[in-house]
Amino acid sequence: MKLGVLVSGNGTNLQALIDAQADGKLAPGELAIVISNNPEAPALARATAAKLPAEVVDHRGLERPEFEDRMLALLAAQGVEGVILAGFMRVLSPHFIERFPLRILNTHPSLLPAFPGRDAVGQALAHGVKVTGVTIHFVDTSLDGGPIIAQDPVPVFEGDDADRLHSRIQSAEHRLLPEVVQRLAAGKLSCQGRTVRRAE
Ligand code: GAR
Repeated sequence: MKLGVLVSGNGTNLQALIDAQADGKLAPGELAIVISNNPEAPALARATAAKLPAEVVDHRGLERPEFEDRMLALLAAQGVEGVILAGFMRVLSPHFIERFPLRILNTHPSLLPAFPGRDAVGQALAHGVKVTGVTIHFVDTSLDGGPIIAQDPVPVFEGDDADRLHSRIQSAEHRLLPEVVQRLAAGKLSCQGRTVRRAE
């Protein structure tokens, strides 16, 4: 399954996917293209270093349908069948999502349904939770509300600030995301209602 990765920022999750592919741990998944809505995203250099096509579709100045159509055209040109949102900070509309039914994954830095949306790590600290974590879920038209595929808990320690806590969460997501992507690509995820199962 050819995979497109959408990014907006640093790209450490993209790097985890690139490293997994280099180790033969993504097959039959194959990274085919990286698209950033942010021309300054360090993720773009990671893609280029890995010899992956790296494209920018800057959302600024574009209406959402055109922004999405440009990304859809780039994905289609590479024969992409599965899409990974790896720190992609734009909301996708049904127009995009319905092109990849149960074929779009997102990684989110909290144990959903707690703390959806922006600044999930800051939200968790402000709420005073003792455990937060990472969630990999299918993307549907809700905000961070699609069926949950996998979660890993991460403890919150006294004295944590957002950077320390986020870096601990990121260690967990860098382990979990490639595993889930491999399962998706291998056709090993099934979904009934909200319940995702690993099919052997
Ligand atoms: C990741 O921690 C990801 O979970 C989060 O952004 C970070 C991107 O890091 N995504 C969201 O908050 C989406 N709502 P990266 O660019 O280094 O992969």
